[in-house]
Amino acid sequence: MSNQVKYVLQESEMPQQWYNIIPDLPAPPPPPLHPGTHQPVGPDDLAPLFPTALIMQEVSGDRHIAIPEPVLDVYRLWRPTPLYRARRLEKDLGTPAKIYYKYEGVSPAGSHKPNTAVPQAYYNAAEGVRKLTTETGAGQWGSSLAFACALFGIDLEVWMVRSSFDQKPYRKLLMETYGATVHPSPSDVTNAGRAILAQHPDSTGSLGIAISEAVEVAGSNADTRYALGSVLNHVLMHQTIIGEEALKQLAEAGDTPDVIVGCTGGGSNFGGLAFPFLREKMAGKMNPVIRAVEPAACPSFTRGTYAYDFGDTAGLTPLLKMHTLGHEFIPDPIHAGGLRYHGMSPLLSHIYELGLIEAVAKPQSECFAAGLRFARTEGIVPAPEPTHAVAACIEEALRCKETGEEKVILTALCGHGLLDLQAYGDYLHGQMEDLSLSDATIEEALRGLPAGV
Ligand SMILES: Cc1ncc(COP(=O)(O)O)c(C=O)c1O
Repeated sequence: MSNQVKYVLQESEMPQQWYNIIPDLPAPPPPPLHPGTHQPVGPDDLAPLFPTALIMQEVSGDRHIAIPEPVLDVYRLWRPTPLYRARRLEKDLGTPAKIYYKYEGVSPAGSHKPNTAVPQAYYNAAEGVRKLTTETGAGQWGSSLAFACALFGIDLEVWMVRSSFDQKPYRKLLMETYGATVHPSPSDVTNAGRAILAQHPDSTGSLGIAISEAVEVAGSNADTRYALGSVLNHVLMHQTIIGEEALKQLAEAGDTPDVIVGCTGGGSNFGGLAFPFLREKMAGKMNPVIRAVEPAACPSFTRGTYAYDFGDTAGLTPLLKMHTLGHEFIPDPIHAGGLRYHGMSPLLSHIYELGLIEAVAKPQSECFAAGLRFARTEGIVPAPEPTHAVAACIEEALRCKETGEEKVILTALCGHGLLDLQAYGDYLHGQMEDLSLSDATIEEALRGLPAGV
């Protein structure tokens, strides 16, 4: 009987293409709309924010897009990433299930986010862009883009959600180490930030507010563009390298997944892991249940509505058809800062509506309990975001213990938590609360949805 733990590909086996799931879906996702005309936005509407190559990827109907050689060259710093069989966790749970995790924490910034930060910086640099702006929740995306911008010689200005800015000072220092400038959000350097501070001087911020600030600055400076770390089609497509590698590694292990779980903030690590497997499922080659796991404090899939809404709080972006809690919804300052987004990727929302994936919500204390159990068996301290995925893996594995099923469970451990230890400290010292989210709060936020669309 094999006792193999790590499934490691050679650099020469690294996928050379990203996978675009859109042409394989039974129906195309609804297009983004211009907020004034309610007509589909065209490339010209997006040009002030994104380079042409990324706009073309956003609307591409090609099934595969070749990864440029300079991007592959940077990917080689940490890719292919290992697939682990969580044998010690399985033993601790006493489950007959097999748990596999694709570990993205080996990247320089410690998460999956460089998979898209590197191509985004590359395409901007190739089109002569001098500076990028962005938002960051927990700081994983901001530090990934700061790393990528350093490699391609671009300046970066980051708006970091206030609650994370206060909870995670080392992520700010990591961004600065790579050369970025970091503001807490809401900040007094943008109109959007000042408007929020005037109404809520103690605002803990949100990803929606930080996006407004970064978009405002990019939109008003000709040499500056904006980069988004999740939500958009091209971002999820860049992340499919996770699933493409995992497909090869699971085949090497001689298994096919019965259940795939992943945490969802804007949906990029989950989509990146799941889409290549969904392609195989739609082709009739396997039949995994694919389950998104979101925080109970920000439940866009499970308690939001499917509607056109702004991607940011101030209403500066196109309207996106997505599962949303309303762009005015400010989630409680939970520790999984990367999951505090009011909306969900429009592509994943569409796939959810098609019935191809399912979703559950988990409170953060259950997730940190799972994170501790994982750290104490597998050794890796998960970032707060993927503790949601770990909690769902454990739940499924314990179900298998009841039924005796030997299911194969696959997840993405999309980042390590070594710069999130304050959150573990709060949990260990009994200072973590699960605040309940009332229907009335959600209904109130949904009243702010744009009318007539
Ligand atoms: C480690 C980690 N996981 C997950 C997320 C959530 O984003 P996404 O749903 O796009 O993967 C973030 C976002 O910042 C993150 O930093």
